[in-house]
Amino acid sequence: MRVAIVGSGYVGLVSGACLADFGHDITCIDRDEHRIAELRSGLVPIYEPGLAELIAANVAEGRLRFDTRLDQAVAAADIVVIAVGTPASDNDEADLSSVHAAAKSIGLALDGFTLVVTKSTVPVGTGDAVASAIHAARPDAVFDVVSNPEFLREGAAIKDFCQPERIVVGAETERARALMSELYRPLTQRGTALFMTTRRSAELLKYAANAFLAMKISFINEMADLCEKAGGDIADVARGIGLDSRIGPKFLEAGPGYGGSCFPKDTRALAAMGRRYEAPQRLVEATIAVNAERFTRMARRIVEACGGSVEGRRIALLGLTFKPGTDDMRESPALGIAEALIRAGARISAYDPQAAAGLAGLALSEDAYAAATGADCLVLATEWREFRALDMARIRDIMAQPVIVDLRNLFDARTMRALGFEYRGIGRPA
Ligand code: UGA
Repeated sequence: MRVAIVGSGYVGLVSGACLADFGHDITCIDRDEHRIAELRSGLVPIYEPGLAELIAANVAEGRLRFDTRLDQAVAAADIVVIAVGTPASDNDEADLSSVHAAAKSIGLALDGFTLVVTKSTVPVGTGDAVASAIHAARPDAVFDVVSNPEFLREGAAIKDFCQPERIVVGAETERARALMSELYRPLTQRGTALFMTTRRSAELLKYAANAFLAMKISFINEMADLCEKAGGDIADVARGIGLDSRIGPKFLEAGPGYGGSCFPKDTRALAAMGRRYEAPQRLVEATIAVNAERFTRMARRIVEACGGSVEGRRIALLGLTFKPGTDDMRESPALGIAEALIRAGARISAYDPQAAAGLAGLALSEDAYAAATGADCLVLATEWREFRALDMARIRDIMAQPVIVDLRNLFDARTMRALGFEYRGIGRPA
């Protein structure tokens, strides 16, 4: 099938590369000329394991190309995918200006029956708005609009696209459902379930999925606070409840709160949707509040570990990205915590295997040992695997004070204490 993908960001590039790998003919479009020029010269502007290789292989096979102009690719396409960004606007609702602009351009360019597929995360009702925008641009256009939300995780996006637990298709016509089945046949013939529903249900369930996962995280984080005060170990509590298949073991790791480009933005957008439709999403509102307060709570914990003040103290911060396996620092708990510590007078030396830049007032070190040298406290904020292999005896010796605040429970408490560290994790009595 011929597919044009409008928007060559994270979702657009991953979808484009994977759909090309399924054997489809793909054009990835972006109005950012610099980005397209880079992609054409073989440079992939985002860090995602396996993506650059997959793009190169499919470009070489002639199934994948990049363009700034949308007209030709859209006119030739059986399917046009909208994968533009939907950043948060001032009132927390998703900013749909790029989606509307894409819909209008698609309407003007399409030729013959075209299926328009929205992959961007968009509020309920956007499919209808896209259809109206196309219709307004071209009253004689013959098309259908489908919602096909993505459930990709940064760092595992290729695997998530190629081996998904489900593919959600929100379609209103048989023709649309048939085309979507054909698009995903390489996956469905290997047994992946295609979950067919209405467009509005598909739009809503994308937000519901992210909000539910975020709620699990805020729940386990508050439970961790209770474990610390009342005596208990959050790892055991999480494992014990997760053995019940109705709860499940995943997304129950207590930590410094959730971050990234999706959970914070999507929970706020869902809460805003609830307010707009007068169907308050109180659990989602609470999830957001718990997470927002988490950063300050974590900063306070570090201040306590430093004896009540971080004024003039040196803090070694390990990990800046919102999770391992990415270079993304958007809404990263590490940055929120660092900001609070800097405000309280701390000097921070940070190390992260991928993050390119930090914050004002935060010095980037070239490795974990350089960051730890002379530090009064070491804070583990992102659970990069390589931190497990650190020579902790060496870290102890180069620090000014052997104090660790482990916000991801990455290190073994007993081992750290045996090495002579004053060690604090999450959700365990001190
Ligand atoms: C998330 C969802 O997991 C994807 O399914 C979804 O497609 C994506 O958002 C999206 O909407 O595009 P992602 O933002 O890449 O994916 O990151 P996650 O792996 O879900 O982690 C989110 C945050 O939750 C991270 O800060 C992580 O550290 C935190 N987390 C996760 C915890 O604190 N505890 C856990 O047990 C799990």
